[in-house]
Amino acid sequence: MFRTQFCDLFGVDYPIVQGGMQWVGRAELVSAVANAGALGFLTALTQPTPEELAKEIQRCKDMTDKPFGVNLTILPTITPPPYAEYRQAIIESGVKIVETAGSNPKEHIPHFKEAGIKVIHKCTSVRHAVKAQELGVDAISIDGFECAGHPGEDDIPGLVLIPAAVDKVEVPVVASGGFADGRGLVAALALGASGINMGTRFLCTAEAPVHQRIKEQIVAASELDTELIFRPLRNTARVASNPVSRKVVQILAEGGEFADVRELVAGSRGRKVFEEGDPDLGIWSVGLAQGIIHDIPTVEELVSRIMREAEETIQQRLSGFVS
Ligand SMILES: Cc1cc2nc3c(=O)[nH]c(=O)nc-3n(C[C@H](O)[C@H](O)[C@H](O)COP(=O)(O)O)c2cc1C
Repeated sequence: MFRTQFCDLFGVDYPIVQGGMQWVGRAELVSAVANAGALGFLTALTQPTPEELAKEIQRCKDMTDKPFGVNLTILPTITPPPYAEYRQAIIESGVKIVETAGSNPKEHIPHFKEAGIKVIHKCTSVRHAVKAQELGVDAISIDGFECAGHPGEDDIPGLVLIPAAVDKVEVPVVASGGFADGRGLVAALALGASGINMGTRFLCTAEAPVHQRIKEQIVAASELDTELIFRPLRNTARVASNPVSRKVVQILAEGGEFADVRELVAGSRGRKVFEEGDPDLGIWSVGLAQGIIHDIPTVEELVSRIMREAEETIQQRLSGFVS
C-alpha cells in the first residue's frame, strides 16, 4: 500500500495526476488513467462547445467507473470561450473534481464549491498558490520551470518551487513539471508534495490520442529539445524545438509582434501535428521530461511501474542510507 493525503482527498489509489492537455485530454486517455488508479483530467476546451464537453464526459463515464476530473484552462484571449457555459456543463455532468489553470480562478470557485466539486488549482508561483488557497481550493498543483506548456515568467525550477509552495500553503501540494518516473515521485514526496502531476509522460503512452510518430519523436528527443516561445510577450510557453518554434523565437527576439507569428502558432497547426504525425507542422507543448522518457508504455504499465519504482527506491535505496 502506498497512500498519501492526496489519495484520500480525491478517492484514488495512487498519488499521480494526468494534467489537462489540449487536444490530448480526451476520454481514451483519461479513462485509462482512471482505470489504472490515478487521476486523469479531460480538457474542457479540447471540445468545441460545452455540449460536446458534456458528451465527452459521458463517453469517459462509459469507459470507467473510477473518479476522473475536467481541466478548465482560463487563458486571457481576445475572444474568450464561453467559460461560464463550460463550467455549467461540468457541474451538470456530475463530475466531482476540477483542475483550474491559466489564470485566477476566482469567479469559478464558488460555483464549483456549491456543487460539491473539489478543485485543484494549477499555478506556477508561490504567490498564486497562496491566493488560490485563500479562494478555497482543495489542493494546489505547482508547475516548475521544467514543465510543458506555460511555466510562467519566474523561471523557478521544481527543486525550489515545490518546497517553497509547501512551506506557504496548508492544502496538499501536487508537484508538477519534469516528472516521469518513480524516482521523481519519491523526490516530490521528499520535498513535501502529496503527489505528482505529469503531462509529457502521459502524452507518450499507448492510449494518448496522438500519432505514433509524435510519441517516437518524444522518445528520440532529449532534455535539450524544447524552446521557450512568447518570452518577450510575457506569455511564455515551453514547446517542442522544431523549425516553426525556432522561427517564432527568432521573429519575437528581433522585435516582432504577436501578429507577425500568429499564423505560425495557430492552434489548428498544433492539432495537425498530433493528428498527422509530422512534428514540424506547428507548435506543440512538450517538457524537459522528454530527456528521461525512453518508451511508449500503456497507461497501466506506466502507473504500476512508477509505483513499483517508488516503493523500491524508498525501501531499498533510501532506507539503506540510515542505520
Ligand atoms: C501537449 C500538452 C498540452 C497541454 N495543454 C494544457 C492545457 O490545455 N491546460 C493546462 O492546464 N495544462 C496543459 N498542459 C500542461 C500539463 O497539464 C502539465 O501541467 C505539464 O505538462 C506538466 O509538465 P510535464 O510535461 O513536465 O509533466 C499541456 C501539456 C502538454 C504536454
